[in-house]
Amino acid sequence: MSMKENSDWWHRSVVYQIYPRSFFDSNEDGIGDINGITMKLDYVKNLGADIIWISPIYDSPNYDAGYDIRDYYKISSEYGTMDDFDVMLKEMKQRQLKLVMDLAINHTSDEHPWFIESKKSKDNPYRHFYHWAPGNDGKAPNQWGACFGGSAWTYDIITGEYYLHTFTTKQPDLNWDNPMVRHEMYKVMRWWLEKGVDGFRLNTINFISKSPHYPEGKYNEKSQYTDGSSYYINGPRVHEYIHEIHQQVLQHYEVITFGECPGGDLHDAELFSAPERKELNMILTVEHLDLDGGKWTPKLLDLRCLKHHFTSWQKGLYDKGWNSLYWNNHDQPRIVSRWGNDTAPYRDLSAKMLATCLHFLCGTPFIYQGEEIGMTNVRFPSLADYRDIETTNFHSEASQTGLRLEEIMAAIYAKSRDNARTPMQWSGNLPHGGFSNGAVNVLPWINANSNYTDINVEQALNNPQSIFYYYQKLIQLRKTMPIITNGKYEILHDENTHIFMYKRCNDNEQEIIVACNFSQQPIIIDDIQLSEKIKNRKQILISNYEEHKRSDWLEFRPYEAWAIEI
Ligand code: NOJ
Repeated sequence: MSMKENSDWWHRSVVYQIYPRSFFDSNEDGIGDINGITMKLDYVKNLGADIIWISPIYDSPNYDAGYDIRDYYKISSEYGTMDDFDVMLKEMKQRQLKLVMDLAINHTSDEHPWFIESKKSKDNPYRHFYHWAPGNDGKAPNQWGACFGGSAWTYDIITGEYYLHTFTTKQPDLNWDNPMVRHEMYKVMRWWLEKGVDGFRLNTINFISKSPHYPEGKYNEKSQYTDGSSYYINGPRVHEYIHEIHQQVLQHYEVITFGECPGGDLHDAELFSAPERKELNMILTVEHLDLDGGKWTPKLLDLRCLKHHFTSWQKGLYDKGWNSLYWNNHDQPRIVSRWGNDTAPYRDLSAKMLATCLHFLCGTPFIYQGEEIGMTNVRFPSLADYRDIETTNFHSEASQTGLRLEEIMAAIYAKSRDNARTPMQWSGNLPHGGFSNGAVNVLPWINANSNYTDINVEQALNNPQSIFYYYQKLIQLRKTMPIITNGKYEILHDENTHIFMYKRCNDNEQEIIVACNFSQQPIIIDDIQLSEKIKNRKQILISNYEEHKRSDWLEFRPYEAWAIEI
């Protein structure tokens, strides 16, 4: 199918991700809630996004911020009631906003009734809802490490066997080889779709199929655990199951699906998202965000690697599958602190530059709450201020290996997921950035970033030059210029280590050049032909410096970015 024919509504959409716990606390208990989201729908509408993805709001003991679901059919009381949910959905529909639910179906909470049953005996009807295996010489069935530290197996005394959990011990992995599990999950999905939701973000969906007999993983001399990921990521039956989800559920509704696929590469993206394979609409890969080092071992980004990543995905999926485009989510540090510069005067410029770079690419852009006002990473003084289980687990494991506290904190400042989870900064004058509706004596579940006095929605909405309005303009451009959805991509000056420049073009000889200086240095690109073309341009689409009498567009100022139709 060619790009021109291929024009599903979600190809032109922009997603706004809400992390409910940190978005807006309407009932003043320090925890964001569903009514808080409803109260802020006009804000999202004003930005221009048309799909809202909400991180999990189901009943959960909350060991992994709701990604450990106890009841798929119930709203967590911390967030409100099912009636609140219904009102929110109705209000979204009234504003033509679509709702995507975040569904964690690779694992449940260990408090889910299925797991409680499963533990009881080896012949319990729910036993094979999960992965159980006998120990090996008094040790776990194998030495796989879990994604959030420790072993991927936990011993259970009742039956004397181990259960598998690729994340925390509180998140046992479901056994998708059991048709009963798949049947139950399809029921869950249909139930929410019947309610009127518009799709799913499927959490770690490429983990659902495990290699039979759990072969030992790769040894790593720095760890007591092995890396078993090749036996549980993109496992042998993953495509069969996802196709089955499509056949059993998705094809009967008008839905959008994005599958979170850690470790997913371009080839996987094509397999999951090629329309004729009838699996998902797109995947959320982490490949580009792994370019600046390991999870807790940050290093400087080499821009050429990022350019290479985007170039191969843009070209590789063109007319074949579909890209998701994102810098931030609830698992990632804030992009302006990460690959931009969060100090004045560069925060504003670099946030806009990063947005320009992403929003002219082919794919569906995602904006994570607060990105549109340039929210930054946080540096809490003490570990006690951190809430994320991955962060606290890292701290305890790293302390045991003898890493110094300064080194541990430096890694946490750079990479902790709590960077993304501090309360949304609504106001500069109200306590905690106005998160709890202005209440004075309410402490948020996690502290606000103290820079809310300068960086907040109120201030952004009052300033026509703000990052917010820049995003708004980028979204409008996408909605009005089909070339941004459909155009072909080509990299320009690909060896340059500071400038990311590319063009988009279509069959009508329309051409857009996008250029972004990822550095604080002024950079000159020597390209007389391009310079001439730019002089004779049709229009400047957007630029993060105020432009008046610009003589040479190829002399870049710090973090300068623009897009020009030539
Ligand atoms: C991916 C989610 O985005 C993350 O927040 C969660 O901790 C893991 N999956 C485990 O469910």
